[in-house]
Amino acid sequence: MNWEKIDAHAKQWVKEAGEIIRLSFDKTLNIQTKSNPNDLVTNIDKEIEQFFIRKIKEVYSDHKIMGEEGFGDEFKNPDGIVWLIDPIDGTMNFIHQQRNFAISLGIYENGIGRIGLVYDVVHDELYHAIRGKGAYMNDKLLPPLKEAGVKEAIIALNATWVMENNRIDHNLLIPLARDARGTRSYGTAALEMVFVATGRIDAYLSMRLAPWDFGGGTVIVEELGGIVTNLRGEKLNYLSKDSLLVAKPGLHQTIIRDYLKDGKW
Ligand code: IPD
Ligand code: CA
Ligand code: CA
Ligand code: CA
Repeated sequence: MNWEKIDAHAKQWVKEAGEIIRLSFDKTLNIQTKSNPNDLVTNIDKEIEQFFIRKIKEVYSDHKIMGEEGFGDEFKNPDGIVWLIDPIDGTMNFIHQQRNFAISLGIYENGIGRIGLVYDVVHDELYHAIRGKGAYMNDKLLPPLKEAGVKEAIIALNATWVMENNRIDHNLLIPLARDARGTRSYGTAALEMVFVATGRIDAYLSMRLAPWDFGGGTVIVEELGGIVTNLRGEKLNYLSKDSLLVAKPGLHQTIIRDYLKDGKW
């Protein structure tokens, strides 16, 4: 498989999609809700997903596509080449802030991540990696991750998980939030993953994400020695929703062992 060629196409399409998004900033958005009043989608999320599907199908008609907005293919096994697409990760930020969102693409072969791209459109920062070939931010090679302890760590998590909620016992995560040097909540899983890759933060966790949220970021983080699992410390399956813990190598082990082992995640 010529991964360089697929990567070059993906990069070109991500940049073009970014330009469409930038041009949308001056236009009125059509905003709809999905599963609940805070689960938002816009005409631009849908347009960008359809843009990628058109481009991919033109060149790689045998590849399969899973996209958040549902314009991709129906399939149940990971065989062959699968593109995981989040056209806008951080739609709420896109609508309210016109920043703090990204395009995320993950390209998998038989369930194994080969290429990851996360594009911070507003900052024109493209994080990308081909498995075994290094991870980059634009043209800059990113250095391998260094270890960090909880007390020196900035950990990204959503405030929902330390307030009463209908998914987990919220008391479980309070010790981790208390012991960390600081906590952050950016509202875009894909960028929070690449912030771990660049060392801007040290770990990110979430109770429930989908393959299009973590597909691209995983390849980038793993290329730098970071660890990506669910909150039970198990490898993710790239066709299922799951919880997520992304962290620097030693920190990942410490968080699982000292803070997460009693949770029913
Ligand atoms: C969401 C963002 C958010 C995370 C949600 C995701 P979307 O993605 O990544 O940070 O907390 O769970 O669904 O819907 O904006 O693509
Ligand atoms: Ca969404
Ligand atoms: Ca998302
Ligand atoms: Ca999205």
